[in-house]
Amino acid sequence: MARPKIALIGAGQIGGTLAHLAAIKELGDVVLFDITDGIPQGKALDIAESGPVEGFDAALSGATDYADIADADVCIVTAGVPRKPGMSRDDLLGINLKVMKSVGEGIKEHAPNAFVICITNPLDAMVWALREYSGLPHEKVVGMAGVLDSARFRHFLSLEFGVSMRDVSAFVLGGHGDTMVPLTRYSTVAGIPLPDLVKMGWTTQEKLDAIVQRTRDGGAEIVGLLKTGSAYYAPATSAIEMAEAYLKDQKRVLPCAAYVDGPFGLDGFYVGVPTVIGGNGIERIIDIKLGKDEQAMFDKSVDAVKGLVDACKGIDENLG
Ligand code: APR
Repeated sequence: MARPKIALIGAGQIGGTLAHLAAIKELGDVVLFDITDGIPQGKALDIAESGPVEGFDAALSGATDYADIADADVCIVTAGVPRKPGMSRDDLLGINLKVMKSVGEGIKEHAPNAFVICITNPLDAMVWALREYSGLPHEKVVGMAGVLDSARFRHFLSLEFGVSMRDVSAFVLGGHGDTMVPLTRYSTVAGIPLPDLVKMGWTTQEKLDAIVQRTRDGGAEIVGLLKTGSAYYAPATSAIEMAEAYLKDQKRVLPCAAYVDGPFGLDGFYVGVPTVIGGNGIERIIDIKLGKDEQAMFDKSVDAVKGLVDACKGIDENLG
């Protein structure tokens, strides 16, 4: 049986890291695609040359022609521009919307059966636009945000509690940005919810609030340090976890920017929600009941995403 084919649209910082991880994990053969000739070919060859040492047999190639992504099983999209210090994710909207148009059309023509994971920012609006331009089924087009946001939350919590990151689970909802909604009552250390840990004296509410805020600002913190671009290691790992869940039909419960039509009272909208990812793509959206404060935060987040989607429609009248 042939190995699965993974097309990485955008061979920049995240794209290269995705290729490296996909190869090391032997998820399939990898095609790196970019508009800049040389970069995808160079990164593909460099990673392929690590194969004998790492012990993987996955084939890697670079491309500037969409024909080379033909029949990909998974497409992970990072094409576009990243943030610079002082920019919000939303500042990228106009440039990256044009990129989503060309990428969406390329996927529509050459890889219409793929599971598509969008990473390009501003994430919730870009995954919506990518779905519109590609015309793929909604359950096959998803955005990577929640896995990364919850990984950041888990990392900070494990440092605070002095316990293994593996034993910390976190739950985040909403858009990928300043309005994301970390749900502390569903975030746990080995099943013990965070509010209980506060009562047990493991931390204080003030410290927990500060960790929540640091999680919301997690992307900006990295941009501020790097100065020349945005985070790429943790975003790439997060998207690979989603791709693996699809390729191996794992039925993983992962927070993703998914198309929500019905749950959470939404009528056909992309936003971060808990999902089940398996061989059919997004197989289920877990419709949890929100408390009053949580609902208010979620509504604010949804409104922020709606504003971005409307801005996209203002730029391209053919959308939606
Ligand atoms: N088609 C294909 N590739 C493109 C296109 C296009 N129309 N436009 C730009 N690219 C490529 C660039 O040539 C570059 O190699 O996309 C790549 C982006 O890589 P980086 O600039 O290194 O950005 P990266 O850090 O990988 O982030 C990519 O993910 O997290 C988001 O905000 C981030 O939107 C940004 C995206």
